[in-house]
Amino acid sequence: MKVIITENYDEMSQKAAELIIDIVKKNPSAILGLATGSSPIGTYKNMAKAYENGEVSFKNVSSVNLDEYVGLTADHDQSYAYFMKTNLFDHIDIDQKNTNLPSGSAPDCQKECDRYNALLDEMKPDVQVLGLGSNGHIGFNEPNTPFDSVTHLVDLTESTIKDNSRLFNSIDEVPRQALSMGIKNIMQAKSILMVVSGKNKAEAVKGMVKGEITPALPASVLQLHPFVTVICDKDAASLL
Ligand code: GLP
Repeated sequence: MKVIITENYDEMSQKAAELIIDIVKKNPSAILGLATGSSPIGTYKNMAKAYENGEVSFKNVSSVNLDEYVGLTADHDQSYAYFMKTNLFDHIDIDQKNTNLPSGSAPDCQKECDRYNALLDEMKPDVQVLGLGSNGHIGFNEPNTPFDSVTHLVDLTESTIKDNSRLFNSIDEVPRQALSMGIKNIMQAKSILMVVSGKNKAEAVKGMVKGEITPALPASVLQLHPFVTVICDKDAASLL
């Protein structure tokens, strides 16, 4: 696991975007595994800037996203589909037909998970972007999710509901369930890029980088992947 410590969020975002852009320059039809949350927003801004400056094209890139809330349609402003459109896809030349997320409004969750798993068998990301939950979750794989899990329906923990409530009008509006790639799906990516910032993540970062490898801290599984780059700011790295 390669750990790069940056001065702040902006430097983290710059470096993360450079790594992704480099992959796309080398392989213009790369598959990008993408994540939502506050952590990658700056990374996506820098990717959009690089596209606007003519530095890179995402025309032939395709993408798979980690997760989606259950019960939100793609046009709901808190859905991850909406997040991806407004924070990245609308600002680059990716063909939106080639972008994929699990659907939170599918009538049959299990069928939707099966569809997504079949898709992921065909589409192994060249790089999977990840953020880190303050309880060590990746995607929406909450503590004690088995390492061999694939895309599944998740009951969100109280701590995740609370963390994510800042983005909703009230905590009651936060969906209680989500569909998430499983840990096995995430580990199948050719490389992994984790972006983390802030003091509230320091404990989880410590466990991920040098703690015991245990489902109690899902991100610790990344110690078993051969190509992981963690880019974190000084605050997130403060317990390393
Ligand atoms: C959410 C997402 C994760 C994300 C995490 C951290 O629960 N499902 O994919 O990495 O929270 O979010 P943030 O970057 O906003 O701290």
